[in-house]
Amino acid sequence: MPTQIENVFPASRTGRTTAWAVTAVVAGSTLVATAALAPARAAEPIFEPWRDAADRHGVTTGFALSPAHLGDPGYRAIAEREFSLVVAENAMKWDATEPSRGTFTWGQADQVAAFAESNDAELYGHTLVWHSQLPGWVESISDPDELRTVMYDHIDAVAGRYADQVDAWDVVNELWEGDGSRRQSVFQRVLGDGYVAEALTRARQAAPGADLCLNDYSTDAINAKSTAMYDLVADLLDDGVPIDCVGFQSHLIVGQVPGTFQQNLQRFADLGVDVRITELDVRMDVPASAADLQRQAADYRAVVEACLAVDRCTGVTVWGIDDGHSWVPDVFSGQGAALPWDAQYQAKPAYTAVAEALDARPDDAGPTPSPTPTSGPVDAECTVTWSHAAWGTGYTGSVTITNSGAEAWSSWELTTTLPGGQVLQQGWSADWSQTGSTLTASNAAWNASVAPGGTVQIGYNAAHTGDTSVPTDVAVNGSPCH
Ligand code: G3I
Repeated sequence: MPTQIENVFPASRTGRTTAWAVTAVVAGSTLVATAALAPARAAEPIFEPWRDAADRHGVTTGFALSPAHLGDPGYRAIAEREFSLVVAENAMKWDATEPSRGTFTWGQADQVAAFAESNDAELYGHTLVWHSQLPGWVESISDPDELRTVMYDHIDAVAGRYADQVDAWDVVNELWEGDGSRRQSVFQRVLGDGYVAEALTRARQAAPGADLCLNDYSTDAINAKSTAMYDLVADLLDDGVPIDCVGFQSHLIVGQVPGTFQQNLQRFADLGVDVRITELDVRMDVPASAADLQRQAADYRAVVEACLAVDRCTGVTVWGIDDGHSWVPDVFSGQGAALPWDAQYQAKPAYTAVAEALDARPDDAGPTPSPTPTSGPVDAECTVTWSHAAWGTGYTGSVTITNSGAEAWSSWELTTTLPGGQVLQQGWSADWSQTGSTLTASNAAWNASVAPGGTVQIGYNAAHTGDTSVPTDVAVNGSPCH
């Protein structure tokens, strides 16, 4: 397995896997189930949108968009709700925009730009000059004048087209080898070290209002590669070359957020450029364990906190939305689960960790508040449905409580008996506890009020030793439910 520092991106790709084991997580805790990809379901938000919380910090939350996925309601709902910045995952790259010389195709790129505009989100440009996803006709040029002309024409056309929309461009992407030497791309081989300054200068002319960035992976720590980037940025600034920002891709492996991450961002900021986390994901072996998903959440939290701690960090972009549409399994065999939503668009612990790192408020679009709240618990008339998904030593219980009475609840407490020696492990969307075999779930602050006819959904994980049956006798506020 490549280390995070090596972070090899193989050239050959396998086709997208259409059915694979997933570990689904609901509202911050773990629901482990091995399943084929299911049809899309709408997300179930529990915090205010990330973008609103991020806005209070003066940063943006971004995501890499593949416009073909926008027809999927689950994908679209998250895309619209959570993100204040959009970057094309592939649609603005050279092979997508200029597949043959002088012939430009804008269809998908325009869709990305239109989505950003309609969603009142910033548009981030990715990318103008890159060795990958570069058409063969560019790759084969060996004459410096011709290549420079081709590079300038491409920058003029692409950056020029979106000059009024793109807030910042990755002008040159992935220019370094791991040891801090220049990557031997066609641009480097034919034009030499100066191609970076030439590209930046041309981009400034083509899109005078856009910030101009260099972007790379495995530059998240202080290491040879990031130091090469640092030295180059310092030189470019000294030479008066337009450079405004540096992107840190942060394609991370679970448990491996570098200890020098924040310090590294800070040293670039201290040079006088903005910094951004541009392609965050945190991969792991799949099927993912509950422990790895918790570690992943801590990693996401650490990255967001590092950005917030650095004044010139403009925000965090995740490289996709959900595990069903991530580049990771195509490239790293046996790995995945890298994004904050699972393949069914259920929020993972990483979603909650990001929300908490941003100080997001509980979602105010939760259950409908009672029109006539009572002053305290009342005898409940209730209906409860209980479903579960079991595996070898545990199961996840999903509980829907309905207020089937005529009076609103201003608070509620569910009590029941766990069968067969089951032991509560963790729960969500309520305060859960177990005494003996008695299981209790009390409302969280945000779901205390339940109007007549209203429902609350909560869940928990329990360990079992063979008996996976779920409780049957349930009471809410002391009154038996149906
Ligand atoms: O568009 C073709 C399609 O016509 C064809 O049928 C299909 C067959 O495999 O391939 C499609 O192209 C794929 C393309 O994504 C669009 O889906 C390529 O094979 C595939 O290699 C390409 O992968 C992209 C990768 O960049 C290429 O290097 C990933 O989606 C994209 O997430 C990834 O993004 C990069 C960033 O740009 C730079 N930093 C690293 C990051 C992850 O590799």
